[in-house]
Amino acid sequence: MSDDGERNSDPDRATSLPIPLVQKTSPPAADPAAPAPSVIIPSAPSLPTPSAPAPSAPISSDVAPSDPQRITALPIPLTRPAQTVRPPATPPTAGPTDAIAQAEESATAATAATAATATEPLLRIRDLTLAFTEQGVRRGVLDRVGFDVPRSATVALVGASGSGKSLTALSILGLLPRLATLERGTVQLGDQDLRALSERELCKVRGGKIGMVFQEPATSLNPVYTVGTQIGEAIQLHAPVSRGAARRQAIDWLRRVGFSEPERQVDSYPHELSGGMRQRVMIAIALAPGPSLLIADEPTSALDMATQAQILTLLGALRADLGLSLLLIAHDLALVATLADDLVVLYAGRVVERGPAARVLHAPAHPYTQALLRSVPPIGRSAYRVRGERRPPLPTLGGALPDPRTVLTGCNFQDRCPQVFDRCRSEPPALSPTRHSAHRAHEAHEARCFLVEGARAEESARVQEAP
Ligand SMILES: Nc1ncnc2c1ncn2[C@@H]1O[C@H](COP(=O)(O)OP(=O)(O)OP(=O)(O)O)[C@@H](O)[C@H]1O
Ligand code: SF4
Ligand SMILES: [Mg+2]
Repeated sequence: MSDDGERNSDPDRATSLPIPLVQKTSPPAADPAAPAPSVIIPSAPSLPTPSAPAPSAPISSDVAPSDPQRITALPIPLTRPAQTVRPPATPPTAGPTDAIAQAEESATAATAATAATATEPLLRIRDLTLAFTEQGVRRGVLDRVGFDVPRSATVALVGASGSGKSLTALSILGLLPRLATLERGTVQLGDQDLRALSERELCKVRGGKIGMVFQEPATSLNPVYTVGTQIGEAIQLHAPVSRGAARRQAIDWLRRVGFSEPERQVDSYPHELSGGMRQRVMIAIALAPGPSLLIADEPTSALDMATQAQILTLLGALRADLGLSLLLIAHDLALVATLADDLVVLYAGRVVERGPAARVLHAPAHPYTQALLRSVPPIGRSAYRVRGERRPPLPTLGGALPDPRTVLTGCNFQDRCPQVFDRCRSEPPALSPTRHSAHRAHEAHEARCFLVEGARAEESARVQEAP
């Protein structure tokens, strides 16, 4: 064993983990008088013992420079305990028949509550409005941003550089930069209003219920501590486990994220690992405390194409196996297309389109989303190559994001929109359901464009006129 123990015991050491680490907390003592909660938020996934047989679900991995032949796998079943439903405690005065009737009633109520909770989104963001104020000048960055992250689903938040993706993530976690003010909006995680929490309570949520993976693992990991120490520290901050148990869990987590020799690699320092492996460590740190939501902010943009695909595959596999919700932030629509259940497109701090990924990708409704999709380079043998012709250059979007210091009247895409018309310059469009939108709320496909509004109105007029 390494000297991890000594390092762990140093309370003053600075950590470079990306989110403030919460204080170590013991689970609250059970209060027999208190009614049991009807639904328990999932806790840390149960970890198999190191000796447990490990059925393998191979996932190819990026390869460490020191071990070029390594093929890694995801060998441990990543099942998280199912949500537990407990009926409320039966009052002690009730007789046996009453108790059975009450238990049945409670069980029915609990089942109904669970069904309702299961369909409720895990994360619900509404009206997030954020601005920087520098030298008395307000610079609006987020404008009434709203979307849901359903339970056990992946939502991709996409948009150009500077559109406000990272600040949306930081607002969820309550980690605002200096000079930033969250002027309005709500962030609801399950039944918790995160904006109403104290800093101490928020600290328990960060890392504990919401894990975060950042873009650049090299700057997020502490170079002077082994990866095992850093994963173990994340575990110990959220659960009262011994140092030895934390190390064993760290080894299991390294195996889960695709390390082939975790018992040896647990004592590696970040500089001894490739970029892809460092990002795998970051994923292990974020997931080890058992969050119900993982936010990954451009987790692959510092990696080569092959490693990007591996990391995204790993994230998708872990999300599915652990039953997590994943908010995946990216500027590359093509990259996240295969993983996302829902897409949210952000442009200059406003949601311009959102809906099920398949609908948004096959029938993009907002001119900005259409432009984004047109700019994805085609791969493989195209008709041009077959005919030996030159492929025409990819269409590009002229202009730039609007200046956040100016208050723009009308649509914020007006200066770049090929279909702009008079109304766009005088009135801001609202998010409207597209023609492909479903009535069920979680399948709604909406876009912030007057053309969408118009097409929808034409469609309903046609339906009404039809004999
Ligand atoms: N600490 C800060 N101080 C001042 N302005 C900031 C700060 N952080 C972000 N901004 C500004 O807020 C806007 C949105 O930034 P944000 O980092 O959320 O963009 P992003 O969509 O994540 O971009 P990227 O894809 O490049 O990461 C940008 O105009 C940026 O310049
Ligand atoms: S509202 Fe007008 S400017 Fe905005 S995206 Fe639609 S057509 Fe273009
Ligand atoms: Mg960003």
